[in-house]
Amino acid sequence: MVNLKLEDYPQDSTRRVSFPLAPHLTHRSMFLMRKGKILYLDHQATTPVDERVLQRMIPYFGAKFGNPHSADHAVGWKSSRAVADSAAQIAALIGADADEIIFASGATEANNLALLGLAGRRADRRRNRVLVSAIEHKSVLAAADALKDRGYRVEAVPVDTEGRVSVRALEDALDDSVLSVSIMVVNNEIGTIQDVRSLSMLARSAGAVFHADAAQAPLAMEIGALAEDADLVSLSGHKMLGPPGIGVLYVRRALQERIEPLVYGGGQQNGLRSGTVPLPLCVGMGAAAELLRGDQVREARAAMRKRRDRFVEKLRNLPWGITVNGAAAERRHPGNANVCFHGFSAHDILNALQPALAASTGSACTSGIPAPSHVLKAIGLSSDDAEASIRFSLGFTSRDEDIDAAIDLIAEALGRFTQTTVVRSA
Ligand SMILES: Cc1ncc(COP(=O)(O)O)c(C=O)c1O
Repeated sequence: MVNLKLEDYPQDSTRRVSFPLAPHLTHRSMFLMRKGKILYLDHQATTPVDERVLQRMIPYFGAKFGNPHSADHAVGWKSSRAVADSAAQIAALIGADADEIIFASGATEANNLALLGLAGRRADRRRNRVLVSAIEHKSVLAAADALKDRGYRVEAVPVDTEGRVSVRALEDALDDSVLSVSIMVVNNEIGTIQDVRSLSMLARSAGAVFHADAAQAPLAMEIGALAEDADLVSLSGHKMLGPPGIGVLYVRRALQERIEPLVYGGGQQNGLRSGTVPLPLCVGMGAAAELLRGDQVREARAAMRKRRDRFVEKLRNLPWGITVNGAAAERRHPGNANVCFHGFSAHDILNALQPALAASTGSACTSGIPAPSHVLKAIGLSSDDAEASIRFSLGFTSRDEDIDAAIDLIAEALGRFTQTTVVRSA
């Protein structure tokens, strides 16, 4: 094993390294890679599990096992207590009560339960329209789409160039034929934060149920009163320093009888979602919710925002034209920077940055589908600009040195592309 030092590399770090498996790598990314350092700027795809959360979960994979639904013995009672405590922690994060929290496999399932569940047990036949914002996550859009076969009309409410839902368009669309309105709290691609309170007041005044997909919200903002504003709220464990494979749907108590389950079985969780709940994951998501209610979170958010702003400023100082897509800094996720590198291909840039830097073209859940982002299109970007855009998302663990190193790598990659273009066009 060779011991590498940065000085071992020639100053011209744009020269390619001969490495059969990764011919695109530069000396600098090779150096970072061999140091085992990956610059992770994709926290909106998934957050690393916080060490404190992990420590709380570990005993539940071992000695503290037990089916929380086993009602006949103390092992089951203890597990049931742990699940109830976790539900209470998650409820407290959004200002709800523990019995209003339904555990599911993630926010995808929670969103499906919200839309399909409500539509499945519609009391008023006249309410046959479902409204969703144009920039919802695919799990909301696809669930809404599935309702078309069940006799519903689905309408997308447009957004402005910042990604903010048009209040006027929502007002115009609302009447007593609308069953539900789904609007995400924080967008997963451009980080736009919606004025959920005003939008939900409008929806409710027309008698519609208001559903908020808050999967991206816990890191981004204070959501302690969300359950007051929304009737249904989706959350995801792996977007909030907790484990993957778990999420919840908050269902306002008065609404629970109006939800048709997606999963039938032993009738667990009030019959709303049968199946044994995953004890260690529930405990982890509860612990994460508790962390995110702590005083330190405000500071962590402020530090993340400062780093994000510094990152954007440094990008602007590079000799290539960039635009930040979406809302002004104060109306967006403090860790989100969705950047258009005009004239470049986002896929090529991301490829050139592998494996040293992790960022993405948008929603990880849809990557692999070669279509420009529906979110970027909805805010008015051309297909070219949408395909030149990269989402960088910082987290609480991002450091200043990560930002500096990321800027160096990006500059190096863009420089190489520019050189290639110049050489080709010469
Ligand atoms: C806004 C939003 N909603 C829902 C989801 C789906 O969450 P999960 O991975 O927990 O199913 C995501 C994941 O990217 C998301 O960003």
